[in-house]
Amino acid sequence: MKRCTAIFITVATAVLFLSSCKQSGSSSSSGALIGIAMPETQVTHWVKDGATLKAEAEKRGYRAEVQFADADQAIQNRQIQTLIGLDAKLLIVGSVSAEVAPAIAETAKKNVSVIAFDRLIQNSADYDYFITFNGDKIGELQGRSLAEALGLENADPKAPKSVALFAGSITDANAFSFYDGAMGVLNPYIEKGVLKVVGPYPKTSADKEAFEKIATGWQSSTAKELMSALLKNEAKNLTLDAVLSPNDNIARAIIEVCRTDAKYKNKLPLITGLDGEFESMMLVKSGDQLCTVFKNTTQLSEAAIILADQILKGQTPDIPGAYLAEGPQAKLGDTGKKTVKTYLIDPILITKENINIPVDAGFYTASESEALK
Ligand code: BGC
Repeated sequence: MKRCTAIFITVATAVLFLSSCKQSGSSSSSGALIGIAMPETQVTHWVKDGATLKAEAEKRGYRAEVQFADADQAIQNRQIQTLIGLDAKLLIVGSVSAEVAPAIAETAKKNVSVIAFDRLIQNSADYDYFITFNGDKIGELQGRSLAEALGLENADPKAPKSVALFAGSITDANAFSFYDGAMGVLNPYIEKGVLKVVGPYPKTSADKEAFEKIATGWQSSTAKELMSALLKNEAKNLTLDAVLSPNDNIARAIIEVCRTDAKYKNKLPLITGLDGEFESMMLVKSGDQLCTVFKNTTQLSEAAIILADQILKGQTPDIPGAYLAEGPQAKLGDTGKKTVKTYLIDPILITKENINIPVDAGFYTASESEALK
């Protein structure tokens, strides 16, 4: 998003904020301000989530102010300062990177509660709550979907299938969980020799050097550059059977590049995704994208506001539809400095066969739902 659009959104939300102040007092239980800091707008769910979080907060009698950071941590840290300055009692933060920690330290000094939203706030001991989707499961669903579609269980090592690997951002803990979840499924097939990696092969996200080579920073422009380079080099003399893509935005960038290569004119590689974005759902419907993973972030936003309400009222959190991460899953809330209470919602794999699930959940506009029928 261009800086001027970011400013426009901030101004627009400020106007909405002021008009909502004027209206407050109607059903207001406390009228306290909930600050909402979202990381970027390239992926549509953050934009939708900002709006849903605000609406849900206001429904419960709070005031709400939303800010979008244009994938820039310095901007987000300033926005967090602004929200603290506006006397927000609680912040819901989808962080850009671990560099958010100093801003979170400020919230602790001012007794402002923080909920990490969809992305773990890393390297911080200054907050207590995280609400998200099970990231390991997301990757597992992507990996399993590829394995099944490629028929890896019965594949012949003499004719291995080929796959190229892509990841999200090295500053986002989700990118590690998604990748490790997927590779937990795919590595055994690679070891058996029925699946061959074309391009860099980090066995897990812990292989930093190789992982950085496949990391897109969640930017479609970087994904396009990486894919173009791959097609010109390692994948020059073969036809890729599959691509592991961490989300829909990256998947569409990869598809766009494949379409410029005659080899893929009639048959694209099998490509995974995440987020259930409308454009990718259309590609799943037409068979151009193998799958996406649906994170019902409308449900996540509603759950986050229920959690915020319970925290502000000093109640023990009890969120319908979300469960507390326990046992090995609790590591999803390990910030590196402490383990925060983590509430999880399960993601759902979407293929051609069950496109109706996010549609029936009311995730799209009426005309989008119509197009997906
Ligand atoms: C989110 C994804 C999103 C990605 C890029 C991740 O942290 O979990 O849903 O596609 O960031 O914004």
